[in-house]
Amino acid sequence: MARRGKHGFPDRIETDLAVKVEGAHYVYPNGQVVALSGVDLEVKKGELLGVIGQNGSGKTTLTKLLNRLLKPSSGSVYVNGLLTTDRTVQEMSAHIGYVFQNPNHQLFARTVKEELEFGPRNIGTPEDEIASRVAEAVDFFELAEFIDEHPYRVSFPTRKLVGIASVVTMKPSIIILDEPSTGQDHQTTRIINSLMRRLAGEGTTVICVSHDMPLLADVVERVVVMRDTRIVADASPREVFADEQLMRTTNLQAPQITNIALQTVYPLGGPIALTPKELAADIESRLKKGQR
Ligand SMILES: Nc1ncnc2c1ncn2[C@@H]1O[C@H](COP(=O)(O)OP(=O)(O)O)[C@@H](O)[C@H]1O
Ligand SMILES: [Mg+2]
Repeated sequence: MARRGKHGFPDRIETDLAVKVEGAHYVYPNGQVVALSGVDLEVKKGELLGVIGQNGSGKTTLTKLLNRLLKPSSGSVYVNGLLTTDRTVQEMSAHIGYVFQNPNHQLFARTVKEELEFGPRNIGTPEDEIASRVAEAVDFFELAEFIDEHPYRVSFPTRKLVGIASVVTMKPSIIILDEPSTGQDHQTTRIINSLMRRLAGEGTTVICVSHDMPLLADVVERVVVMRDTRIVADASPREVFADEQLMRTTNLQAPQITNIALQTVYPLGGPIALTPKELAADIESRLKKGQR
């Protein structure tokens, strides 16, 4: 029987879930700003989840509860079955990797290489394993030419990749990315897109907070929508982005492709397109049918 923490919740639970949040409220102590009001969220191991919502809706606060940077004002947060409240950020960092929205809040080493080595070393990874993980990350994130640079001397998109890579080298079973493609260029967005696919293929649980609807439409299987401190929808990207009323009431924009599909081919019947490829295939098949 698990010991009870001081908040009355079991210290650990038997679960197949990566994340289990129940009735979480959060009030920022300064100014008493309510940031979360009764959030419930379950994330399965290996799931690829997108979190969307207007600025200030509570997305970042929710993710900070998961990695224990914040403790819920009430309610419970379990990560890999462990109640986060009674554990340290350091202990949770072996389970859950957190990529900050702003890399300037995360990076502190003198070189890109040291930055990539720090995380795995900090959780006791053997040196030869660290070296091979760093080499792999340098290759994947295309960082070879920056390896000896100071992280603050490289461009913002590259610095953001360094922030992501420095968490990936820890190989946590869960990774949170907060706005990974914000402020990115085409090349870095492409790397982030393939990273999310790769992590999912490896069985890593990925939680991606983002305003980048085309990215989410392309890679995630589930989208949680937040509005004003609460989760107001939780469904597939196709269901969420096709729900025009939901998009309107949350002040969010579906991917342009979905909007075009909604206004043109969708009223004729058929599934709603999320990506340029899907819309092109849909139009092509309609044209072919029309020609017959
Ligand atoms: N450090 C803080 N102190 C006080 N209020 C905060 C702090 N961080 C965020 N907030 C407030 O909490 C609410 C949720 O913010 P946040 O979780 O950052 O939303 P999002 O990530 O969706 O933009 C907002 O009202 C925001 O102003
Ligand atoms: Mg945020």
